[in-house]
Amino acid sequence: MMAENCVPDSCFENLPKLVDDLDDYLKAYQAYAEFSGLKVDIYKDWARIVFEEQVVTHFISKFPSDGTLRVLAVGSGDGKVDSCMLEQLVARYPRIHYTVVEPANEPLEEFKSLINDSRPKFDGVEFEWHNKTFDEFQKLEEEKAKSTGADKERFHLIHAIHSLYYVNDLQQAHTYLRDRLVKQGALLVILLSEEAGIYRVWDRHPKLCEGSPATNLCSAHLRQIYAQSDTPYTFHHQSWPSDISQCFDASSVQGGRMLDFITHVRNFRQSAPEELKKDVIAFLRRLNQSDKEDEKSSGGYQRDWDSMVMIKS
Ligand SMILES: C[S@@+](CC[C@H](N)C(=O)[O-])C[C@H]1O[C@@H](n2cnc3c(N)ncnc32)[C@H](O)[C@@H]1O
Repeated sequence: MMAENCVPDSCFENLPKLVDDLDDYLKAYQAYAEFSGLKVDIYKDWARIVFEEQVVTHFISKFPSDGTLRVLAVGSGDGKVDSCMLEQLVARYPRIHYTVVEPANEPLEEFKSLINDSRPKFDGVEFEWHNKTFDEFQKLEEEKAKSTGADKERFHLIHAIHSLYYVNDLQQAHTYLRDRLVKQGALLVILLSEEAGIYRVWDRHPKLCEGSPATNLCSAHLRQIYAQSDTPYTFHHQSWPSDISQCFDASSVQGGRMLDFITHVRNFRQSAPEELKKDVIAFLRRLNQSDKEDEKSSGGYQRDWDSMVMIKS
């Protein structure tokens, strides 16, 4: 059977999945997200304005600053984004218990180094590291609750920044995370926007995700869950147009890693059949055109994402 875009189904058979090696995966993600050097600046600004307004200000009105603030972070990677939020939190809460769930080993170690290098800024934060997937963490917590008979610990803040693509079932994950919040606690989720390049590529080629733990999710999927349950939430759209011309330069290592991340195929340039490669590159070239009138202009590839904050009533 031929897909609508004329790439034969056989082109997707036996493609090596990037997520099969999470440390390689993170290198590709870093190349993709950080190549322009803007990533941390964008998240710092977002934390200073949006996170501060939608989460920290709410916390100050509900939770005393002399208590311990408990945070659960799902899929933190190297912790660079987490540290932007932590900077805002430590300014108000001198004591924080911060639980990290991250299955990839190398980025978890990078996160620990980042914290060590930032001393004494985060000295009031006690970290609990879980080198596990979200499913493994849930199982561990179930077993702990069964064996001790105690209620599961609840958190003031739970966040999942670009990590819910890797859970089995978004609805189930959302219900579980909501249940783990204290009353007036906040669930913060960041997912790609519908216009984002990766979402568009996976939407064009759903087979890129087949058989892998990744799902082609965007913020609209979570918003739909909120709409169905009449759940209020606050929303922020982060626009982030960029130029991915490096992906079209066969000699660029950085461009190769970016392509691996966009397709979630390991070593895409070498491992993808010619027809698939051609189609993906041509599609990306079109997405990269910043001005539809000018076929040669670049910089229009969208890395846009949306943050959504839900307060448990
Ligand atoms: C796109 S990266 C985002 C990393 C970080 N939050 C950031 O924004 O820079 C996705 C993260 O989810 C992690 N991840 C993958 N599968 C996961 C799972 N089953 N449970 C929890 N985290 C997972 C990856 O290892 C990676 O660190």
